[in-house]
Amino acid sequence: MDAPLYLGPRVEPPLAALLADRSFLHSLVDALGSPLNVLLPGAVAENAARFRGVYGRHHLTGRVYFAHKANRSSALLRRLAVEDPATVGVDVASVEELKHALGCGFTGDRIMATGPKDATFLWLAARVGATVNLNSPGELERLSGLVRTHGLGRVAVLVRLSGFEYASGREGGGTRQLSRRSRFGTPVRDTEALLSALERHMETVEFIGAAYHLDTTGVEEKARALEQCVLFMDECRARGLTPRVLDIGGGFGVGYVAEAEEWEQWTTALVEAVLGVRPPLTWRGHAYGLRNEGGTVRGAAALYPAYRPTAGPGYLDELLSLPAPVLGRPPATLLLEHLHDLYIEPGRSLVDQCGLSLARVLDVRSVDAESGHYLVHLAMNAGDMSLEEHGVLVDPVLLPRAEAEAGDGKPVGVYLAGNLCLEADLITRRLVFLPRLPRAGELLAFVNTAGYAMDFHAHRAQRQPVARAVAVERRGTSWNWCLDEDYWPITSLGEQPDEV
Ligand SMILES: Cc1ncc(COP(=O)(O)O)c(C=O)c1O
Repeated sequence: MDAPLYLGPRVEPPLAALLADRSFLHSLVDALGSPLNVLLPGAVAENAARFRGVYGRHHLTGRVYFAHKANRSSALLRRLAVEDPATVGVDVASVEELKHALGCGFTGDRIMATGPKDATFLWLAARVGATVNLNSPGELERLSGLVRTHGLGRVAVLVRLSGFEYASGREGGGTRQLSRRSRFGTPVRDTEALLSALERHMETVEFIGAAYHLDTTGVEEKARALEQCVLFMDECRARGLTPRVLDIGGGFGVGYVAEAEEWEQWTTALVEAVLGVRPPLTWRGHAYGLRNEGGTVRGAAALYPAYRPTAGPGYLDELLSLPAPVLGRPPATLLLEHLHDLYIEPGRSLVDQCGLSLARVLDVRSVDAESGHYLVHLAMNAGDMSLEEHGVLVDPVLLPRAEAEAGDGKPVGVYLAGNLCLEADLITRRLVFLPRLPRAGELLAFVNTAGYAMDFHAHRAQRQPVARAVAVERRGTSWNWCLDEDYWPITSLGEQPDEV
């Protein structure tokens, strides 16, 4: 058998302590079934505090808007709702998310509506005094029409920009480049029509600033977009408009793998496997977007950089500190000098270390006689654990019931299969090494799944149950829990609020 290749998850307290309490996790799955999502609302508040700490270090004002799409949980939202209203808000991308945010205790002035919006979404956002992050000039026209028709108050709007152009090379004299294409926002070169529409609709909308969200990990590209937005806002001011907010979206990232070396070894081995110089390390030779063309590896690996030396608040810090090429000052200094507020919309990074997903082992069998690998069927499907949609699944943690059963046996390579009658229903296409062969009834814990993995793609195919979610809180040496929908941050878990 080939030497095991591991991608050990990055696990920090209190998630590490939760993972260590096997009997508690087993009792939850016994009661509520598999799959099960376990959330730590306290951790999301700590992450928000870390982001605010970065603001503080750079003397910046503004708000951290949680991108709700990353997780459907009520507990996480309600926990954020009790944070400082001046600095913590929520970014909603559908009318249902907006209703949910209101029901979790966010007032309209702490909500920002992003993404494409239909009339109901626009109307409710305007009605409750949310900020509307405009995706297109058409959206501005529709919003303005609704405000007039229904006699609503003026709505604060940001304009989302895209298609940033910048000169690369020394002193900006090199070639012109375009930031990655987006189907969202208005290209910076087409903003004239948008600006005159903003001027025309001043009675119905209050233009408060510019926004972008770039789907990239590239910090330089983001710094240049930020700089372009500052220039755009300068132009707006020259025309008599008064923007004061710069919203730089989300995408601050999460480090999923604990050790850089493991990530390097695994990605190198993937390339070698694609070249055929080592046995495949994926189901049926899946290559994550790479291909072998006559002995040369071509294509781009569709892989989330699972090991990140800098992510989340650290990445924001790095972005704000980067020297900016055209205007010659770091983004934080630019924002300060212009007295702009900074808005951010972190999703994945705000729920880093905020939860795990549990699945019961249903069945274990050999893939074939020669490989020595096994197929482990789980009571969950790929929709319940969709980290693979965004990257590569890190190693799950085997949770035997009793302490004594932990370390027997030797490492074994397994493929994790879901509970749908579909060949493609694999939790990961990666060969995963477990410390020993699991047994039916044991649990696998997928760690750090709160960002997009646990419910973004969840569905009810074959009438399989969608995972229930619970919120947990450390109490002394044990854990208190309640259903996600029953969590309210005004009490400790499991207690009734005091009568007033
Ligand atoms: C407009 C917008 N803001 C914020 C986010 C959150 O991004 P992330 O979860 O990478 O922080 C997204 C993600 O798709 C987005 O589209």
